[in-house]
Amino acid sequence: MTMPGAKIGVLDSGVGGLSVLREIHALLPDYPTIYFADQDHLPYGPRPHAEVRAYVTAIADFLIDQGAVVIVIACNAASAASLLDLRAQYSGIPLVGMEPAVKPAATATHSGVIGVLTTQATASGPLYARVRQQFASDTRVITQVAPELVEIVENNSQHTPESRRIIADHLQPMLDAGADHVVLACTHFPFLTETIQALVGDKMHIVNPGPAVARQTARVWPSAIRPDTAENQYYTSGDPAQFSMMLHTLIGLDGLVQQAVWQADAMPPRLLKANERHNASQIKPIT
Ligand code: DGL
Repeated sequence: MTMPGAKIGVLDSGVGGLSVLREIHALLPDYPTIYFADQDHLPYGPRPHAEVRAYVTAIADFLIDQGAVVIVIACNAASAASLLDLRAQYSGIPLVGMEPAVKPAATATHSGVIGVLTTQATASGPLYARVRQQFASDTRVITQVAPELVEIVENNSQHTPESRRIIADHLQPMLDAGADHVVLACTHFPFLTETIQALVGDKMHIVNPGPAVARQTARVWPSAIRPDTAENQYYTSGDPAQFSMMLHTLIGLDGLVQQAVWQADAMPPRLLKANERHNASQIKPIT
């Protein structure tokens, strides 16, 4: 059956999830998507899990309200903070989350050492602990928490000498330890592949889980629903013009980017609906 408006919802704290969205577009070009960047709360990595979970829950509600029938948490930090709880809460909606791709790296390593480049919320989360225990008990894992790299991608500054130095500093401990794989455990980092590749040469293989996430999305799309139009929508809680520029720069797409607005002081956090956003824009501060 066709279900008008049924689409794939994809969320991240910012532009990082676009590295997953491009894989979804490549694999499922006829499926409509709706992308949400919570740039008002970026970065997620340093925030407590409970806070990130509250944002992700509100964004999931927003996406479902807009027709999402599958939700892809295209953010390792958000998945670490919320995936297990959200699975219990949204039992009727397939959720695709991200966990550090330790399994393929630990399976393929020859040196017995792998590196994981990530953020704090992911490094201290239950999914990372689980994959390490399950797949890397015999592997030495060098974890580098690298919040500066998220900023570098968001600011589109990956080609400056200063950014190159910061990226190199995070890779060095892995190279020193003899790692032959580096797992990109933050969806922002695939956008740094060119710089990382230039720095590690053939010493480390770069593991990007994006294509596997796209394949999982295809698997969980409800088989009874045929997508109608392959239209893509974009929302940010930050600056739509800036997001639109990054959408073009990072994945070569031009699309209408709409503003999403968090309700001031709402607890739990809540996003305004379209009619409420309109009313909110009518409220002018008294000067
Ligand atoms: N892109 C997010 C991830 O995959 C993290 C960025 C952030 O810290 O907000 O972990």
